[in-house]
Amino acid sequence: MNKNVIELLITEAAKARKMAYAPYSNYLVGAALVVPSGNIYTGCNIENASYGLSICAERAAVFKAVSEGQRHIDAIAIIGGPLVEESMLEDYDYAYPCGACRQVLSEFLPASGDIDVIVAKSIEDYKMFKLSELLPNSFNL
Ligand code: THU
Repeated sequence: MNKNVIELLITEAAKARKMAYAPYSNYLVGAALVVPSGNIYTGCNIENASYGLSICAERAAVFKAVSEGQRHIDAIAIIGGPLVEESMLEDYDYAYPCGACRQVLSEFLPASGDIDVIVAKSIEDYKMFKLSELLPNSFNL
């Protein structure tokens, strides 16, 4: 994945994180994904008083993209952490996508190859994985 695109995705994910609605966990997550056309879709976590109804940032972004006609995801960046200033995220672990989000991502692979999953604390500090590393032997019909 191109470095400019990685930085753009992280920047957009950080912006989306500011929209997180997480009054129960106080853990804010933003995600930004890019599709083959270059369009970017973002999402944040959205919690509910009935906790189990909450949605993760990654799935919010995927569902936005798919509901607008996209079926392939090239890369997704995720930035998450407790309710602290963005500059303090360095003090916490990367926010890895949960198992449910990994499975949902696996439904919308690129036409060839794999999804790049970027977990970030900032544009200078991130790690990149292939989805297949994070979710080997995923369930498929
Ligand atoms: N969360 C995400 O948004 N993405 C993940 O991959 C893991 C967890 C959210 C869900 C919940 O609102 C908060 O983080 C704490 O679990």
